[in-house]
Amino acid sequence: MKGIILSGGTATRLFPLTATTSKQLLPIYDRQMIFYPLNTLIRAGVEDILIIVAPDHSGQYLNLLGSVFKNCGIHLHFEVQKVPRGLADAFILGEKFIDGDNVTMILGDNIFEDDLHEDIKGFEKGGMIFAKEVADDPKRYGIVEFDKSGKVLSIEEKPENPKSNFCVPGIYTYDSRVIEIAKSLKPSARGEIEITDINNKFLEMGELTVKKIKGEWLDAGTFDMLLEAGRIVKEKELYKLFDLRIEEAIAGFNNELKVFAKKRLL
Ligand code: DAU
Repeated sequence: MKGIILSGGTATRLFPLTATTSKQLLPIYDRQMIFYPLNTLIRAGVEDILIIVAPDHSGQYLNLLGSVFKNCGIHLHFEVQKVPRGLADAFILGEKFIDGDNVTMILGDNIFEDDLHEDIKGFEKGGMIFAKEVADDPKRYGIVEFDKSGKVLSIEEKPENPKSNFCVPGIYTYDSRVIEIAKSLKPSARGEIEITDINNKFLEMGELTVKKIKGEWLDAGTFDMLLEAGRIVKEKELYKLFDLRIEEAIAGFNNELKVFAKKRLL
């Protein structure tokens, strides 16, 4: 299983914060947001991970993550997305990296409490997404409609009249056919190639699994959500759920920074 973190975009809703850095490098309590999706993949046993970033921020990602996972079996790769063409672009940009394997793509601003390792490790073929019941504003998300037996009837992107409160969080697992499906997509009315169209394709083929999750799921895309994410991470102690290799990488990085600071190079 390969992993992709989609961490580009312009994040205009978070201006001026994102005029100087990437949204996914903003702090969630005591560490940058990107460590959360990274942790979700690493906890699921994914060790070969492509991070897709916007052109202006590539240097910042390299500074933070370029060398911290040396010698611990985690291999990070980087790719620049010149224009935010849509979530499905991750698979086109990642074609060579995926190289015929299965792939899990996670959005760089999504924080999951659940440990999804059993689902991701157990994945064999087709597509697998998750569904999380939300109390507010389902119009902001991809929405899954289930029948009484739990069968998926439809998936719609940001519907005007949502058919349920079950939204699709930003983690998606597919086999490598996803690349050709992504390449065949036409941009939607908002000008993007949509992940929801990929999910509908696997649904039509009868090869989409949708699993409900119960734990916290946070999409830190607005000021309120960013603040709320930091509060929930602190209150529910989600910052304690990190893989040891990430904790060691952060500790090593902090030590390097302290040495630089002492030499007054920072
Ligand atoms: O968060 C879950 C939702 O994410 C899903 O329920 C929706 O089905 C899905 O379309 C997506 O909706 P958003 O409106 O939240 O997507 P957004 O455009 O905010 O992009 C999500 C992240 O991906 C964001 O951190 C920026 C990054 N991104 C986005 C695009 C369009 C890229 O890196 N490249 C892109 O081309």
